[in-house]
Amino acid sequence: MTRLDNKTALITGGAMGIGAATAKALAQAGANLIITDINTEAGCAVTDAIQEAGGQARFQPLDATNEQAWTNLIDQCIAEQGGLDILINNAGIFRAKTIEDSSLRDWHEVMDTNIDSVFLGIKHGLRAMKERAKSKPPGLGGVIVNVASISAQSGTPCALAYTASKAAVAHMTKSAAMEFSALGYNIRVNAILPGMIKTPMLNGLINEMAGLGAFGTREPDQLADIAASLHPIGRFGEADEIAKGILFLASEDSSYMTGSELIIDGGYIAR
Ligand code: NAI
Repeated sequence: MTRLDNKTALITGGAMGIGAATAKALAQAGANLIITDINTEAGCAVTDAIQEAGGQARFQPLDATNEQAWTNLIDQCIAEQGGLDILINNAGIFRAKTIEDSSLRDWHEVMDTNIDSVFLGIKHGLRAMKERAKSKPPGLGGVIVNVASISAQSGTPCALAYTASKAAVAHMTKSAAMEFSALGYNIRVNAILPGMIKTPMLNGLINEMAGLGAFGTREPDQLADIAASLHPIGRFGEADEIAKGILFLASEDSSYMTGSELIIDGGYIAR
C-alpha cells in the first residue's frame, strides 16, 4: 500500500467505530491527521492513542452539519497546514423507525447529519484541496472518500430515512467526481459502502430494529444468526476491515478510481 507521508488528512466522526479505526489506519500509513467529531472526549482518546503509537494527529471539535464550524476549521487548516490532501466524510447516524411512526423531524435529523455533513465537507474541503491538487500529476491530487452504506443499494426495513440518505451520499459522490474532473481540479471522489460493521452504531441499531420486527421473529440476542443470514461470509464486519478499504481509496493505489463505489459487505449485496 502506498504510504501517506506528507499528506494532510481530515476525518469527520473520527471518535468512534469506523472513523476511529480509519484514523488509526491513516496515521499508521504516515498521514498528518486532523480528527474531528462532536464527541470531544472519545476523539481526544483516539488522538492520544495515535500519538502514543508515534503517529501525527490532533483533535478538533466539529459538528459536521454546521457550516460556520466548517468555515473556521478549513480556514485554520489552510493557515496552519497550507491545505488538505485527503478528506474522509464519515460522520453519520442511524435511526430505526417504522415509516408510520416517523415524524418529519425524525426524517430531517437523519438527512441533516448524513447528507448536509457530506455536502459541507465536499464544499469546504475543496477550498483547502484545490491549489495543492492542481500541482500534482493526474489522479495523484486530492482525495475525498464518502462513507455511504450497502443501504445505498438495498432496501432496509425500519430505516427509510437512513437508506435514502446513503443513496444520496453515493450519488453526490458521482456528481462531485464528474464536476471536479470536468473543471480540472484533479480531486478524486469515491464512496465506500460497508455492510453491517461491529461499532457502537450497530450495537444500538440491531436491538432497535429487532424490537420493531425488522428481522422477523428473531430476537436481538440471536445476533450471530442475524449476521449469518444477511452476510454470506457469515458474520458482521470489523471496523478495521472498512478502514483498510478507506485507506486504499485515500492512497495513490486507487489513482485510477473516481466516482466509484467500493463495497465491503461480506457478500450482503450479492445475495
Ligand atoms: P458510530 O456511531 O460508531 O460512530 C459515528 C461517529 O460519528 C461518532 O463518533 C459520532 O460522535 C460522530 N458523529 C455523529 N454525528 C456527528 C456530527 N453531526 N458531526 C460530527 N460527528 C458526528 O458509527 P459507525 O458505525 O462507525 O459509522 C460511521 C459511518 O459508517 C456512518 O456514516 C455510518 O452511516 C456508516 N456505516 C456504518 C455501518 C455499520 O454497520 N456500523 C454500515 C454502513 C455504513
